Amino acid sequence: MKKVGILVGREKTFPEALIKNINERGNGEVVAEYLKLGGIKHDAPPAYDLVIDRISHEVPFYRATLKRMALEGTVIVNNPFWWSADDKFFNYSLASKLGVVVPRTVLLPQKDYIQGITSESLRNLEFPLDWQAIVDYVGMPAFLKPFDGGGWKNVSKVNSLEELWTEYDQTGTLCMTLQAAVDFEQFVRCYCVGQEEVMIMAYDPRKPYLSGEQYIHNPDYLSPNLADRVTKDVRTLCSALGYDLNTVEFAIKDGIPYAIDFMNPAPDAELASVGEFYHNWITNAVTDLVCKRLSEQCERPRYRWDALLNPAPIKTEAVASRTEQQSRTIVPNAEAKAAKAATAAAEANGVTDERKSKTTSRSGTRKEGRSKTT
Ligand SMILES: Nc1ncnc2c1ncn2[C@@H]1O[C@H](COP(=O)(O)OP(=O)(O)OP(=O)(O)O)[C@@H](O)[C@H]1O
Ligand SMILES: [Mg+2]
Repeated sequence: MKKVGILVGREKTFPEALIKNINERGNGEVVAEYLKLGGIKHDAPPAYDLVIDRISHEVPFYRATLKRMALEGTVIVNNPFWWSADDKFFNYSLASKLGVVVPRTVLLPQKDYIQGITSESLRNLEFPLDWQAIVDYVGMPAFLKPFDGGGWKNVSKVNSLEELWTEYDQTGTLCMTLQAAVDFEQFVRCYCVGQEEVMIMAYDPRKPYLSGEQYIHNPDYLSPNLADRVTKDVRTLCSALGYDLNTVEFAIKDGIPYAIDFMNPAPDAELASVGEFYHNWITNAVTDLVCKRLSEQCERPRYRWDALLNPAPIKTEAVASRTEQQSRTIVPNAEAKAAKAATAAAEANGVTDERKSKTTSRSGTRKEGRSKTT
């Protein structure tokens, strides 16, 4: 008998449906249940074959437990090591190397630092920060958002340098990114399961968050070409990131899907929020994934970070849409070329040009001495 553990936060309908589905499908040979965790012994034997993690990003004890379980060969959905190492800014950069379009994005030094960090500790920081060059590169309006976050927390739209400063001043010790706002005509959020199965969901972010009104069931929302491209981009991103369960969000303008959020390894799947159709789809897709992972006669899952950071060339089968089978292999050379092109583009836009637009001398990045007027 194989055991599947579910680790959850407040959500209800998704884990319950999942447990029911897996148990029905498992027919006594696979049993799913909520995990119960207390003190974890460093040499504890494996207790589960597979764990679905929905909450360890909020509970460090869970994350540490899952890493320990991975060491014993338990399959963890999603990879706790990569999830710990990951951040949205790295992911935007990776996406653009892989040919997925992302809005212009800049990583910003933090506004504040933890106690004990003084200006002495921050001598590597440019001071004052060249805000004008940053804004020139990104453009306005823009979104100020954490480099690692979720739930729309600390996300704000700014229309000017002044508004940016006002919002930035409230970000405390969070590390933030500034990203060009896409004035989208369409918006989709896509589930991706097992780095392969994709469900494109029409999504209206202008409706209240978690209201149940955001997700719209409309299979024809995107034109077939756009749906193919989005599917391909979703697979490319999720294969590169190694997440078995994720959502990828695209803001679509002039036929171009801009990937704006794709680090959601515990995506919303609650009935009241995503609606019955998508809730059932994701429950079935994750159940399929569990069955597949449990039946695979593989060696222990590979959690080597170097493998994730320097992946072998990505082969067509992993990334191409099903309808479009032509070969696409990303080789280091092509990546180097892409990086070079990106640098050239950045230079053309003045992002690395020290001489350009150093008119605004607000810093906000060092412990002391930030002033709007300096
Ligand atoms: N570059 C952008 N262009 C247009 N809209 C954006 C952009 N970035 C963020 N938004 C809007 O802000 C919302 C929240 O941003 P984002 O998804 O990046 O944050 P999050 O906290 O990770 O959200 P989630 O709960 O979906 O994980 C998006 O759904 C979208 O409506
Ligand atoms: Mg989002």
